[in-house]
Amino acid sequence: MSNNPQFNFRHSFSFSWLLLLFVGCAPQPADVAPASPTAVVVLKAAVTATPVPTIPPPAAPTAVPTITPSPTHTPTPTATFTPTPSPTPTKTACDLRIPQQDDLLAIVSQEFGVSRSYKPTNLVPISPHFSREITLGYPTQVREELLQPLIDMVNAMLNAGLEPYIISGYRSYATQEATYNKWLAIEPDRADILSAKPGHSEHQLGTTVDFGSYRLHDYLDDTFDEKLQFHTYFYKTPEGEWLAANAHLYGFTLSYPRSAQEVTGFYYEPWHYRYVGVGNATALLEGGTSLTEYLLNQDPEPCFND
Ligand code: DAL
Ligand code: ZN
Repeated sequence: MSNNPQFNFRHSFSFSWLLLLFVGCAPQPADVAPASPTAVVVLKAAVTATPVPTIPPPAAPTAVPTITPSPTHTPTPTATFTPTPSPTPTKTACDLRIPQQDDLLAIVSQEFGVSRSYKPTNLVPISPHFSREITLGYPTQVREELLQPLIDMVNAMLNAGLEPYIISGYRSYATQEATYNKWLAIEPDRADILSAKPGHSEHQLGTTVDFGSYRLHDYLDDTFDEKLQFHTYFYKTPEGEWLAANAHLYGFTLSYPRSAQEVTGFYYEPWHYRYVGVGNATALLEGGTSLTEYLLNQDPEPCFND
């Protein structure tokens, strides 16, 4: 990497958390990959009937993605929604979900949110385990379950000569609220496909990690800010390619693949990986489906535990 013109950029990171909120995502509609085939996927971890569920703007103009939320966004109504009055009041909002601590498959989507107060109880800092080049000096935390898999995966990348870094892990409801509001101010028309509303980000689960590549700027032209950390072209980088091919071996699944944009409601995010365990991540990859699509097909209850 020392011969790489981005080397200085690599050492120029001194971003604050506030800056992180502005890190841009510049989705590009080009190079559309074929949609993955639909397949039946059976995940190992139980999905209980009552479980739950930064970015600075692009420096250059970006094409406006044309994502039209489809009816598939709305899960099939369950018995909870039958016209027959229920003896107990039916929850109408999904801001009461509190994921069980061991529920790696808690649904968090545009429809299914987590409580404002939810915070995993076993968050651990990643900084003791990685160099500053990997953590960028950010105080990133993740749930304890994925710490070792994350260490193993990043070390495997480093051993393969790759140059990844970690941009984001756990984000509180308040942090997500600030992030979403920044997007609303910057790109009001695209905010909902680029950022989750507070309570609707998988980052609040503490099981999700955003990765970056020191080589990203090799794939962008000079019009992009050198501080840009998120760009759809991450998928073209060696780090993005490696993650797409190998993350499942460490238990991580790509939450928002290009082929699932209409199901997830979010634009392609080749950097956003959620830990679900090796078996589940492998089943999802082999089944050609996203976790959100899988979970919505389970007809989750609209709300649970309060
Ligand atoms: N950018 C993803 C959707 C999030 O905000 O969690
Ligand atoms: Zn993310």
